[in-house]
Amino acid sequence: MIQRVRGFRDILPPDINRWQYVENTARNILENYGFREVRLPILERTELFLRSIGETTDIVEKEMYSFIDKDKSPVTLRPEATAGVVRAFIQHGLYNQIWAKKLYTIGPMFRRERPQRGRYRQFWQINAEIIGYGGPLADAEIISALDMILKALKIKGYEIQLNSLGCKGCRPYFKEALMDYLSNKVEGLCPDCRRRQKLNPLRVFDCKVEGCRKIILDAPRIIDYLCPDCQRHFIEVQDYLRQMGIEFKMNPYLVRGLDYYTRTTFEVIAPGIGAQNAIAGGGRYDELIKELGGRPTPAIGFAIGIDRLLSLLPDIEENRRPLLFLALLDDEGVKIGLNWARKLRQKGIWVEMGYNRSSLKSQMNKANKLNARFVLIIGEEERKKGRAILRNMDTKVQVDVPISPDEGIPSFLSQIKNKEETWSS
Ligand code: HAM
Repeated sequence: MIQRVRGFRDILPPDINRWQYVENTARNILENYGFREVRLPILERTELFLRSIGETTDIVEKEMYSFIDKDKSPVTLRPEATAGVVRAFIQHGLYNQIWAKKLYTIGPMFRRERPQRGRYRQFWQINAEIIGYGGPLADAEIISALDMILKALKIKGYEIQLNSLGCKGCRPYFKEALMDYLSNKVEGLCPDCRRRQKLNPLRVFDCKVEGCRKIILDAPRIIDYLCPDCQRHFIEVQDYLRQMGIEFKMNPYLVRGLDYYTRTTFEVIAPGIGAQNAIAGGGRYDELIKELGGRPTPAIGFAIGIDRLLSLLPDIEENRRPLLFLALLDDEGVKIGLNWARKLRQKGIWVEMGYNRSSLKSQMNKANKLNARFVLIIGEEERKKGRAILRNMDTKVQVDVPISPDEGIPSFLSQIKNKEETWSS
């Protein structure tokens, strides 16, 4: 038997109810904030991710599904959505489009990490970006939208962690101080960090190896190196969040796993879901659009990991049920039933029927399994007398009803939806 690829998942009913619930909740909230949906390619040119996420990040160094396409071009399954949003934004010249100021996208991402609880090689993100606003109000709005989604989903005990990574003006001073500090600690660093400390020392903050984590505790902190503009920006973001009653906690060690960030960065940590406890993350990326060849345009965004978020949600009971099941027992009955089913479905009613023309017993069985509310039995003898049997599956009450095959929707059927009680007595 062919098994699915390791780290990839099948999402099936009834679990799909929770996925749809999360996506619909996020969609509604994001639309209320004015975000518009975009659907972008899953496959992009590899260079896009090298230049945005950064060549010395774990994602680019170790985790991308990259291959050479038949036309020899290097392509990659997207490991995240922001780079693609920015690529599309530049490619379509969306600078002055009012709808392009706030964009969201929901879909699968791919990272070849070691699979474990909460970490998959294909996982899903709800991704939102505010593009073209450099002021702190955009930061407050993006965090507010994220917080509202989590609250609407009744996620308990999560913590929004906040940091600022400075800008291209002040970050170099911090980088220098950090490199200085690390240069005396090289012995204690893991091989990855030893290699990266000169190229991209911030990555050491993101390292999970125990030795590196200890070293980082005494390292210089970026918030002590922020320039006055970055400081002011960061303070205003915090003020806005407080004004909205959004709780957060400072985390001076938070650098995020992608290189494009500037200024405000954040991550949402949730308790009780194991080691992979970051359910969302994001931040500002004021240089990225320019670096990818666009006009200088500030931006900020977040992504929620749906897979991880779902481990915090209770199961949702299966409460979908067909309103009507048509038990059709002969050719003439099928002809009538097919027609009525179409008409009722056009009216927005869920109608099922037995497809394999089996006995009444097995059709009733199927109606039971589907938890149908009513069954209409159109048997040969009854039909010839212009009658059929309508059974309320909840009360087990059956009534004999008149049918006329030439009628559009028989009058009793069109009333079922609103007058269910008619049949329950
Ligand atoms: P990220 O922190 O790499 O940020 O990913 C966001 C979220 O995706 C994580 O917090 C986590 O919940 C989920 N996630 C990441 N990797 C996995 C995995 N292997 N399995 C399951 N879930 C995972 C970004 O991707 C940025 N693009 C966010 C952003 C948007 N920044 C600005 N705009």
